[in-house]
Amino acid sequence: RIAGPSSLVIFGVTGDLSRKKLMPAIYDLAHRGLLPPGFSLIGFARREWENQDFGEVVHDAVAEHARTPFRESVWNRLAEGIRFVQGTFDDDDAFDRLAQTVHDLDAERGTGGNTAFYLSIPPWAFPIVTKQLSRSGLSDCDANTWRRVVIEKPFGHDLTSAQELNSVVNHVFPEESVFRIDHYLGKETVQNIMALRFANQLFEPLWNAHYVDHVQITMAEDIGLGGRAAYYDGIGAARDVIQNHLLQLLALTAMEEPVSFEPGALRAEKVKVLGATKAVGPFDETTAAGQYSGGWQGGKKVPGLAQEAGFRKESTTETYAAVTLEVENRRWAGVPFYLRTGKRLGRRVTEIAVVFKRAPHLPFDSTSTEELGENALVIRVQPDEGVTMRFGSKVPGTTMEVRDVTMDFGYGHSFTESSPEAYERLILDVLLGEPSLFPVNEEVELSWKILDPVLQHWADRGSPEPYAPGSWGPPGADRMLERTGRHWRRP
Ligand code: BG6
Repeated sequence: RIAGPSSLVIFGVTGDLSRKKLMPAIYDLAHRGLLPPGFSLIGFARREWENQDFGEVVHDAVAEHARTPFRESVWNRLAEGIRFVQGTFDDDDAFDRLAQTVHDLDAERGTGGNTAFYLSIPPWAFPIVTKQLSRSGLSDCDANTWRRVVIEKPFGHDLTSAQELNSVVNHVFPEESVFRIDHYLGKETVQNIMALRFANQLFEPLWNAHYVDHVQITMAEDIGLGGRAAYYDGIGAARDVIQNHLLQLLALTAMEEPVSFEPGALRAEKVKVLGATKAVGPFDETTAAGQYSGGWQGGKKVPGLAQEAGFRKESTTETYAAVTLEVENRRWAGVPFYLRTGKRLGRRVTEIAVVFKRAPHLPFDSTSTEELGENALVIRVQPDEGVTMRFGSKVPGTTMEVRDVTMDFGYGHSFTESSPEAYERLILDVLLGEPSLFPVNEEVELSWKILDPVLQHWADRGSPEPYAPGSWGPPGADRMLERTGRHWRRP
């Protein structure tokens, strides 16, 4: 799967995402031989840079963050196709110069005029940039060329703004040319959810309300939000990752088997299951929102959110969010899906734990099963990628005592192949025109529809509960599950 003749334009090249993820991913693709010979990379920004200055920025980003080793020959080939266009989003001339650059690159390097526009910019700038792309003719294509737009989250702030955004983008680019990035879908372990469920006979018969007690989807991070105030303040944990990454994980875990892996078929199943998903109330009891306070984490003194640079002292932005959802269909009726995420928690871990009901009868005396929990299947998304199964086993000895044990699959042990970075896979898919791993507008809107009532409740209620850095969230999160007789896993 090598991309055909093409170029990629990045808006927002001075941002963190470009430097840490996009530029390194492009180099890695070049290193693996997956880019066409004339591939060209165009940066667009306000800075007074020449092509060479931009080339140096890309070079440094690659040297620092690429996964594959730095090879002069690969770099030199890539560097020949690097261009920079200086301008602001309201500058017609700059977009005309961009159009000229795209045209020249076709003549010089045979890109075929095929161009992807990567909008790594805040959502307020989407309307103006898409309008400029249309005005300058950059969004036009014919039967022989393609033009695609790649948009980064956040896709709006709530359902209404997401609908507005979708209509602005779809006004210029038809839906099949819009690639919305949710980088979780580019992760190997996330794609493996489908292999685990649909390539095996073992799990699917148990994958329903008859056998599953509940599902816990956790995305925990140990880092704080220093340096990210401009993006995060007023956004919060639920909008940042539950609306997108965690609901996509839920969709893949709960959906029905797609009739094929054609893009339409997979997306249709995700739309169906998201359409059946609701937040369960009363939200005071079934959700939790928290904000990390200052304290000690891993032997270091760390500031609370309100003391992080750039955050308002009175900020009520949540850095921890937990919600209870239910999928209202025959397969899942009555099974709670608990989703939680937070910054400055005990450790960085993302996992999906399917927790099964207890066996209906235990033919052991009660003291022998005191250390027996529920069976669980845990999909370890990161960092220790793999799958764990937990079940009871007899403790060796002369008495019948049963205790939980685990059985593990780890990528590192079973495969010698290395996983591509999520952005690498997704950028390649954009260039190939392979849309399966990109959510459609309906998925985005349904995700907001699920979350909006909870966000509204939190906005009315005011401040989130404080929690200590290095902990597993606010006390309200523990109460939320204890009320139902359950508890959060400690990954
Ligand atoms: C991003 C969020 O989408 O995902 C960040 O905006 C978060 O807040 C990041 O830190 C986590 O990504 P990953 O791949 O490291 O889990």
